[in-house]
Amino acid sequence: MKLDDLYNVTIESFDVNGYGVCHIENKVVFVENALEKEDVEIKITNIHKKYAFSIATKILKKSPHRILSLEEIDKLSGECDLAHVDYETECLIKENKVKNTIRLDNYKFNSIIKSDKIYNYRNKVMVPFQNINGNVVSGFYERKSHNIIDTDFDMMSSEIASKILYLIKRYLVLFNVSIYDEKTHSGIFREVMIRNTINNDYMVVLIVKENHDFKRLVEILTSEVKEIKSIYVNINDKKTNVILADEFRLIYGDNKIVENILGLNFEVFPKTFMQVNHDQCEKLYSEAIRMANLNKGMNVIDAYCGMGSITLNIAKHVNHVYGIEIVEDAIINANNNKKLNNIDNAEFICGACEDEIVKLTNKGKIDVIFFDPPRKGCDPKFLDVVISMKIEKIIYISCNIATAKRDIDILINNGYELNEATPVDMFSRSSHVESITTLTLKN
Ligand SMILES: C[S@@+](CC[C@H](N)C(=O)[O-])C[C@H]1O[C@@H](n2cnc3c(N)ncnc32)[C@H](O)[C@@H]1O
Repeated sequence: MKLDDLYNVTIESFDVNGYGVCHIENKVVFVENALEKEDVEIKITNIHKKYAFSIATKILKKSPHRILSLEEIDKLSGECDLAHVDYETECLIKENKVKNTIRLDNYKFNSIIKSDKIYNYRNKVMVPFQNINGNVVSGFYERKSHNIIDTDFDMMSSEIASKILYLIKRYLVLFNVSIYDEKTHSGIFREVMIRNTINNDYMVVLIVKENHDFKRLVEILTSEVKEIKSIYVNINDKKTNVILADEFRLIYGDNKIVENILGLNFEVFPKTFMQVNHDQCEKLYSEAIRMANLNKGMNVIDAYCGMGSITLNIAKHVNHVYGIEIVEDAIINANNNKKLNNIDNAEFICGACEDEIVKLTNKGKIDVIFFDPPRKGCDPKFLDVVISMKIEKIIYISCNIATAKRDIDILINNGYELNEATPVDMFSRSSHVESITTLTLKN
């Protein structure tokens, strides 16, 4: 087997990320863009000792679950790596990803919580701009590349976001604003971030290399899109892949938009972490709260709490809740959200969970702990303290089941058992899946 070799194969199954799987010359071969039971021509793209990667180049016998051809997939953003399968199959792939990664028996596995909206659900988009041969292009990056697919329409964000994008692009062309070139580190306009709430309030952040007078653009945007409540400029003059610089300058309207999650209000600033799919976020939090079986006598910790959106929703059901979060701005935000919602039984602590949790060991009995860590999962030091605290119930929310599994195994080896798992489809059309697992301490 060599790179670029072509083979005709039948796809035997899906792997956890939705790649097709087949066997050639005793190697497992993962096939991008191919579906179970399809006959396809594949091209080898990467070879290892026991396995190889490939991409489907021709569909010879099509699966009834395929909804996009290979040519159509090429025009999509890298994020939508399951856009070619029907939604039922997508959900099955995601359920299997969670189940086959957990690989344990004797616990309750719930069906995936599906999304009513599988397109246009994102409440935050970052859109890069480039100048290609004198033409201003904007859109999203092609799969596995740094080339932008030029489009004014993003099927994952709202129609209003697409309109804002179109107006910005037209302004840049008409007013001759130079586009940033990462190779020469010259030009002004780099990228735009658009955020919105469920009530259709919009925030626009113009990311530029150097200061520019955007008065005319603000007039255009705010007269054409009444939903825009806030416009910022972010000046990033560094030659870097980090998109946002630290300083944000408000050039129009309010400094925030306000999101409502399960009846509570949350202030959203340019850098605030918020789940990207509002409706699924509400279902995720509701399921986590259901699994915790909370009551008014309980004391709870919400680790990795961000702006406090789970913490304050937990507060409604318990005696007292502590939120721990490393980003100082997020904690300021969480405390403001606490006031905004007149909640007095929540307390926020700023710092790394692995350092701060120790301070809660002498605050009386903690009944339940929620974790919602970033993709890399929990710090082992943090898990050690949780184990030593003998907290009866753990609700582990994760956007990366591989690291959650690593942490679940540590907990199981230290006296916990897995009770229940629910996958949640937070990122439709992409192979990423959110999950909630519950563990309890064995007597
Ligand atoms: C996946 S987000 C969850 C936020 C929140 N639970 C929500 O649903 O919006 C993970 C959060 O963990 C925070 N974080 C990352 N590492 C941390 C650490 N070591 N200690 C505390 N917080 C951390 C991040 O800043 C981020 O806000």
